[in-house]
Order: sequence, then C-alpha cells, then structure tokens
Amino acid sequence: MDLKGIKLTWLGHATFRFQTPAGRSVLIDPWVMNNPKCPDSEKDLKKLDVMLITHGHGDHIGDAVEIAKKYNPTVVGIPELIGWLTKKGVQNTAEMNKGGTQTVGDIRVTMVHADHSCGIQDGDQLVYGGEACGYVIEFSNQLRFYHAGDTNVFGDMKIIHDLYAPEVAMIPIGDHYTMSPREAAYACGLLKPKTVIPMHFGTFPVLTGRPSDLEKLVKGVEVVQMRPGQTIG
Ligand code: NI
Ligand code: MN
Repeated sequence: MDLKGIKLTWLGHATFRFQTPAGRSVLIDPWVMNNPKCPDSEKDLKKLDVMLITHGHGDHIGDAVEIAKKYNPTVVGIPELIGWLTKKGVQNTAEMNKGGTQTVGDIRVTMVHADHSCGIQDGDQLVYGGEACGYVIEFSNQLRFYHAGDTNVFGDMKIIHDLYAPEVAMIPIGDHYTMSPREAAYACGLLKPKTVIPMHFGTFPVLTGRPSDLEKLVKGVEVVQMRPGQTIG
C-alpha cells in the first residue's frame, strides 16, 4: 500500500500514530503506556502535534491527560469530553462536533458518527462524555483515512463514503463491544474503501473477531493485518 509519504504505526487496540508528509505526528485514541498490546519501544512518543479522541472509554483515553501534558498536542474531541480534559488541566484543545471539519496542524479532520456509548470513568464517578464519534482525516497528499472508533455497523456509513470516500478504513472487528467481522464486512460494503485495517481485536479474551474472519467475508477490499508496533507506508 503506497501511503504517499504518510507513515502509519499501530500501537495496538484502537491506537494509531501517523507521521504526516510534512513530518508532523498525529495520535488517535491515546491508550499507550497502559495499553497491554503497545510495545515498550513505542511508549515514548518523543513529540506529538495532534491528538484525536473518539470517545471517553478507558481503552481510548486511558493516557490522554498524561500525554497531553507531556507533549502539548492540539487535542480534538467532542465538547463534553474536551470539557472534562480541560478540567484535568489539558490546555491546548480544539473541540468540534459531528458533521464539522477543521484544519489541525497539516490535516483536515471531519468528525463523523459512531454508534456506541461514551461515559468517562473518573474515580468512582461516571461522567457524561458526550457521544462517541469517528474521524475522517485528509492529509496534504489528498489521501483520506477513516477511523471508526468503537461502533456497530450503521447505514450512514454510506454517507461517509458518498461525502468523503476514504481510501483506508480502520474499523473494529473484535465483537462483544463493537462490530464483529460479519458487521465489519457489511461496513466495508457501505464504506467501499480500497484498504481496511482491522483494529480493536485480541486485546482481551472477549474480543474474539480476527482479520482472517473478515477476509473470508469481503470482496474487492484489501485487508491489511498490522502487528502492534508495525509501521507501514
Ligand atoms: Ni468504547
Ligand atoms: Mn473500546
């Protein structure tokens, strides 16, 4: 897969890091230091320019506050989640909501729907975190990626294809808390990406879906199975 100057690294689960063609660093779903699938060699991010957050569950924001304070990236998320991060001392934020697009660093980010819950566990309190979302990211080389966050399949994935036509889709396949391979295959039919990168599987025993299950169910889409710590592009 030619990513035209983009480098993409999977840190395990739903956490990905991009290096943009201009050399900026973008992290999606900051679960890094405490992510059991993240190799130790990837836990020091060195620098970070932009952080995108899909929702407030611990396996997506587990290290958000610490990483934001350490590297001071621009943090993108839905307003309620950004409000909570701000209360925790995160300063450099760029909130947005579904349907909106903004330029952050050298990427264009569109927040799109995800069908999932979004409570934030804060000590013994459960805080309202807004809604879960996904992102379409357009890079300066015109390549578009869709990170679905946690979601089941939903019919409006067709709208994401019609409006944004992402070439690469990172979608959950683990089952139990998100789409199963069967739902993910249906999602591929709606999204029509050239390439799909499965995520959110294998981290815990209940996340039983596997890329090989998805591969058997899709036609005309390349399934790229990454290893945690692997970089492509
Ligand atoms: Ni979740
Ligand atoms: Mn999750």
